[in-house]
Amino acid sequence: MKDLFGKALLDYQNKNYTADLITETSISDEDTLPLPYLFRTFDEMPKLEQKALMLCKGKVLDVGCGAGSHALFLQSKGIDVKAIDISEGAVSVTKTRGVKHVELKALLDETDSFDTILLLMNGTGIFQEMGAVSKYLNHLKQILKPNGHILIDSSDIKYMYEDEDGGFWLDMNAGYYGELDYFISYKDEKDIPMKWLYLDFDTLKLACNSVGLSCELVLEGEHYDYLAKLS
Ligand SMILES: C[S@@+](CC[C@H](N)C(=O)[O-])C[C@H]1O[C@@H](n2cnc3c(N)ncnc32)[C@H](O)[C@@H]1O
Repeated sequence: MKDLFGKALLDYQNKNYTADLITETSISDEDTLPLPYLFRTFDEMPKLEQKALMLCKGKVLDVGCGAGSHALFLQSKGIDVKAIDISEGAVSVTKTRGVKHVELKALLDETDSFDTILLLMNGTGIFQEMGAVSKYLNHLKQILKPNGHILIDSSDIKYMYEDEDGGFWLDMNAGYYGELDYFISYKDEKDIPMKWLYLDFDTLKLACNSVGLSCELVLEGEHYDYLAKLS
């Protein structure tokens, strides 16, 4: 990985903001991801994220922290939070912004235990594909303290397959419709494609139940998105 995501965050942090990230998926055209969005304050966050932050308790793990906006908010409220990310740029920016406990680490390598585990901005994306969901959920369960909870958001992206007549062009022989290839480019450079998973609530709930986690719908967003609480 070229870590273009991290490079973009570093540029923004270093007052060198001249371009946004461009994203594209296997089922959608190019879209812009404005860098300031990744540095959002609590007031600028979607309701789902604000709700998730309000539900944080005890020792918190912010998985895939990006620029550290959620961790920074929690820390400012006196909450004990650890942030992890696999992007060197993201980890560096999160540290520079003042988050005290940040590590360059993949979720599956995390071994501490937590009262709250936060996965935000399509948190299920980190699971990458349907075949890996149980492995990730089992790991999250393992690092969750008794009476703890996991707060995760995602979207049902079935609407992206809808045609003008209101029908769907889902290929029933293909895998789950939320499994996408995700492409990031930044300033004329293209990163290696990665797998990114969107899960509808019912599918997430089934997967949770199969590994012995309960899954509760906390809040629905304005565009097929939702926040779930796993315990
Ligand atoms: C969509 S961004 C979200 C960033 C941040 N949570 C936010 O809401 O602004 C996803 C982040 O997850 C990180 N990531 C992807 N896979 C990961 C993994 N297995 N473990 C930890 N972080 C991961 C990426 O590097 C990226 O920073």
